[in-house]
Amino acid sequence: MNKIRLAVLISGRGSNMESLLRACAAPDFPAEVAVVVANRPDAAGLAKARDYGIPTDIVDHKQYAGRPAFEAALQQTLSRHAPLDLICLAGFMRVLTADFVNQWPGRMINIHPSLLPEYKGLDTHARALADGKVETGCTVHYVIPAMDEGPVIVQRRVPILPDDSADTLAARVLLEEHQAYPAAVRIVAARLQELGDA
Ligand code: GAR
Repeated sequence: MNKIRLAVLISGRGSNMESLLRACAAPDFPAEVAVVVANRPDAAGLAKARDYGIPTDIVDHKQYAGRPAFEAALQQTLSRHAPLDLICLAGFMRVLTADFVNQWPGRMINIHPSLLPEYKGLDTHARALADGKVETGCTVHYVIPAMDEGPVIVQRRVPILPDDSADTLAARVLLEEHQAYPAAVRIVAARLQELGDA
């Protein structure tokens, strides 16, 4: 089996990145992580990636005058790890321009802590609680230029309990995220391999 090569983009803790690294350690998992890239030098996930022996890179958005310059540097960094089959946004908290997204058609996916199309953007759990929802969850979807849109690959549902706070809910949703992301990568890898694109 040819494993597809992933780049994982993070901004912080990197627990979803770690769920991918753990999955990739299994011989029968159809993907391997070629590089982890953070847009923040202090992203805690960088050290975790190094513990797994994975190459890391930092493209600090604060060092660039605007999005196009930042994204050009990001693209250049990614190209140093070519060939890459799939870009996985895992808690990557920079909005990417259409120009950048369109360089990876069908080859960039994102995880989001809600059942999209509900609760795009930030503070998803607090908003679900404020609306009195009884259920939320997480979504892995293809990235298209419109933020938090794009075809859904995997969703996992999580009940909201009467005494949930945003933090307790986030923690339970995160456990499902850690299942959802590897499952989505399996699906996308199979699609790419079927197309002969990987
Ligand atoms: C995750 O809950 C992820 O779904 C969310 O940020 C967290 C990152 O945690 N992403 C977004 O909100 C993107 N819009 P992690 O760094 O531990 O994976």
